[in-house]
Amino acid sequence: MKTGIYPGSFDPITLGHLDIIKRAACVVDKLIIGVLNNSAKKSLFTPEERVAIIRKTTSDIPNVEVESFNGLLVDFADQKQAHIIVRGLRAISDFEYELQIAQTNRKVNPKVDTMFFTTSEEYSYISSSIVKEYAMYGGDVSQFVTPYVETCLKAKIKENR
Ligand code: COA
Repeated sequence: MKTGIYPGSFDPITLGHLDIIKRAACVVDKLIIGVLNNSAKKSLFTPEERVAIIRKTTSDIPNVEVESFNGLLVDFADQKQAHIIVRGLRAISDFEYELQIAQTNRKVNPKVDTMFFTTSEEYSYISSSIVKEYAMYGGDVSQFVTPYVETCLKAKIKENR
């Protein structure tokens, strides 16, 4: 049983993330989306909200599970008996940071390896921050997120005003 973990903040999940999830779910038996509960990074949605949004967004992919985690990624991987960490590479600028994380994680836990997926071209410029900023100024984000995520974004922004 090959279990992979796709970690990230997912604040909120975008079509770029979904693209990686669909492709990664085809190469592992089980893909766990690990939502980082990171108090250092100011987020729009709570970890519980992000988990619920991702569950709904990925409900048609049978081998995907969603959970939040605290602490080190390699510890979460151990806990879940996962040996593969999935990450997406959008541009060359992602590479240095991702290489550093992957190498550190492998040093700390040699049983865990990182598998990179190159983001599909149409999503190579998307980030959750850009989507949030666009939505906050009333921009149309339908090209970047699913209709459900768009509804959640609009509701959250309204709630915060
Ligand atoms: N499509 C869309 N956006 C993407 C993307 C894709 N395919 N790939 C990356 N991004 C964007 C995200 O939207 C996010 O945007 P934002 O900064 O505007 O929110 C940004 O890239 C960062 O990506 P994310 O995947 O959320 O990473 P992160 O930097 O917040 O966290 C972890 C990376 C979770 C892997 C890392 O912080 C971690 O492992 N933390 C746990 C603690 C730990 O083990 N630390 C030791 C590491 S050596």
